[in-house]
Formats: sequence, C-alpha cells, structure tokens
Amino acid sequence: MQYSSAMDTPKASTKPRAVIFDAYGTLFDVYSITALAEQLFPGHGRALALLWRDKQIEYSRLVTTSNHGAHYQNFWTLTQAALAYAIKVIVKNDHITLTYGLNSINSPVFSLTESGQAAAAQLMAQYKQLSPFSENKAVLEALQARGIPTGILSNGSPDMLHAAVQSAGFGKLLAHVLSVDGIRKYKTHPDAYALGTAAFGLPAGEILFVSSNSWDALAATWYGYQTLWINRQNLPFDELGTQPTHVGRSLDAVLGVVGL
Ligand code: LAC
Repeated sequence: MQYSSAMDTPKASTKPRAVIFDAYGTLFDVYSITALAEQLFPGHGRALALLWRDKQIEYSRLVTTSNHGAHYQNFWTLTQAALAYAIKVIVKNDHITLTYGLNSINSPVFSLTESGQAAAAQLMAQYKQLSPFSENKAVLEALQARGIPTGILSNGSPDMLHAAVQSAGFGKLLAHVLSVDGIRKYKTHPDAYALGTAAFGLPAGEILFVSSNSWDALAATWYGYQTLWINRQNLPFDELGTQPTHVGRSLDAVLGVVGL
C-alpha cells in the first residue's frame, strides 16, 4: 500500500506557457442537468446524472481499447447511448416511473417507451448547452489579458464542443478547441494528449493541463503535462501511485499556478 508521501508527484519546475482545459466537468458542469433529470424522474435526478456520466466515460474506454478502435462512435452518440442505459436502469429499479421505461415489465429486454425517449431527448438538448462554472469566464479572460494561450482538449465531438463554447461565450477566449474525434481515440490514450502539445508547439512539461476529472488529471500527468486537478467535489484522488502537480478547488487556482 502506498501513501501520499510516497507517491510520485511531478515538480513544477517551469512556469507553464500555455493552459489546456478539459471540457466536461471542468469548464462545463455535467451535473447541471440534475435539476431537469429530477423533474423528469422524481427522486432519481442525482443517481441518473451520476450513472449517465460514469457510463459515458466507460463507453469511451470500451471503444478505444477494444478491437483496435473498430467500434469507435463519436462522443455525442456515446453520450446518447449512456443516457438510454442510465434511464433504463433507473426505471427498472422504480416501478413508479415505469411509464418512461419498459414497454413490458415482464420482458427480459428493456426498451424506452415514447415518454422515455422524449425525456432522453430533453436531457440531450440540455447537454448541448451545459452551464459553465461561474468563475470560468473571468479566469479565461485573465489568462488572455496576460497573453497566456489557452485551449480545450476534449473527448467531446466538434459539434458538441462548438455548441457548448458558443453558449458559454468562450469563443474568443480560446486559441484552440481540440477534439479527439479526428483521431478516433479517447483520452486517456496518449495520442489524444499529444493533440495538445502539437497544437501549442510546446513540450508537455511547459503546458498546464487542467481537469476536474481525477482520471484525466492522472493520465495527463503520466503523459508529462504539468497538471492541475480541480477537486470541485471534495473527492479523493485516484489511488494509482501518481499525484497531479497541483490541486485546487475551483478554476481560480489556475491563476495562482501560472503566477497571475
Ligand atoms: C472531456 C470529458 C470527458 O474530455 O471530460 O471533456
């Protein structure tokens, strides 16, 4: 068993010359759909949001690691599939919401009814315009004012990212919006992290990679980025023997790391 004192924590020897952000969970609040989920599935909003997110990430790993990527589907499609799965699990466990879910309670195959499909469509529409966290815009503006280039490196498909960036008003604040879709491999594949160094023309060690997702901050650290894990939910970091370079509670922590 390794404890944090024995863990491998990279040293922040150079001030980062560029900042790359993860999108979902870091710039955009994936749990901002919880209120609508709660309205549609009373008593289950939070469970649905959590299961949806976990399944989405699981699917991204499945299609990247299986059969040399032959089953790749873009992130919007995976997000839809993950939502259908999550709704089926929720309605299966709760007969009160059965109208949304199973066509027949006795059937071994779970399919969504028309109301279930309509609820899924509403949630997907909201996913396109996820709320950004409140401090984010000011942080991006401060970085821009100091001439520090910024970008997004995300599993999200280009259309999703474009819609989210526009609806948050981040369009003019980001030098690059990089989607892994062009290489058909999701993070945490190293080819996905390589998109960031290629776009900025800098070595990974001179770039700060910022993510609220522990798995993403971990893999970016392994790749060689300086990393900042935004621990918004007060969770433990992953227990795989490596720590991120920095940890913060909100995106404001970026400004301290780059020395603003
Ligand atoms: C992203 C998700 C997966 O890459 O957080 O934006």
